[in-house]
Amino acid sequence: MTVDIAVIPAAGRGTRMRPATRVVPKALLTVVDRPTIQYAVEEAARAGAKEAILIVDLEVGHLVHQHFVNSGPLPGLEHIKIRPVVQEEPLGLGHAVLEAERMVAHRPFMCILADDIVRPGLDVLPDLIGAASDGSSVVCIQEMTPEVIVSKGAVIPTSELVDGVMSIGGAIEKPDESSIPSLYGVLGRYVFQPEIFEHLATLEPGRAGEIQLTDAMNQLGMEGKLKGVVTDQEFLDVGNPLGLLRASMVLGNHQFGEFSAIAREELGLG
Ligand code: G1P
Repeated sequence: MTVDIAVIPAAGRGTRMRPATRVVPKALLTVVDRPTIQYAVEEAARAGAKEAILIVDLEVGHLVHQHFVNSGPLPGLEHIKIRPVVQEEPLGLGHAVLEAERMVAHRPFMCILADDIVRPGLDVLPDLIGAASDGSSVVCIQEMTPEVIVSKGAVIPTSELVDGVMSIGGAIEKPDESSIPSLYGVLGRYVFQPEIFEHLATLEPGRAGEIQLTDAMNQLGMEGKLKGVVTDQEFLDVGNPLGLLRASMVLGNHQFGEFSAIAREELGLG
């Protein structure tokens, strides 16, 4: 099974990054020398994507087109087609992914949430693609504390962990403390079979009154069609100021390799 198309939802307004995002969209905030969304596209390209569908709002759509298409090819991204798709209304992550249905057209696809950047050399998508080869959809999960998991999607495991993979029977978006189903939380990396669109199309608004991707995953889980790949690696969350600062240090250190050993230790960069 080939997975060579990626959907990258990037329409969020970035309220946690005000005032930076009053004018500049969250997806175009810079980490080291490139906008955050470019890291997501590069990750997709490394995993074999030949096409990346960026779900954006109208304003971001224009800028993203300028960045990726009108300004000429970017090094390393010469072989990936970038297609911005405009989400007219901010109705939730699930709704954003559904906007890609026509372009994905019955193919399995990767889904990458651009708020999190993977650490250099620690890609997870190849493992997700491997686990999806039997026709399952696959989500990247990690053990989290109860304090963290209430702000994430949480999954319901239905099997033992075998080679880092488990079956999942359902998922709950941002569970209340009293209804946390397990401590396995969702990180923003997925491989979906196209049947996810049928679920997304019929969903009622869920958590926060939005169409939730996790609710569609819950339905796949109940049908026995969802797996989780467990990772223990830290993703770099660039959706808040401290996370953006940390990502700049980690990725800057990787790119330039010139932080001193002492500074690296102080900054916890390894
Ligand atoms: C989204 C998803 C959530 C997932 C999280 C990962 O939430 O809805 O299931 O755990 O990304 O970062 P958000 O962070 O956009 O609220």
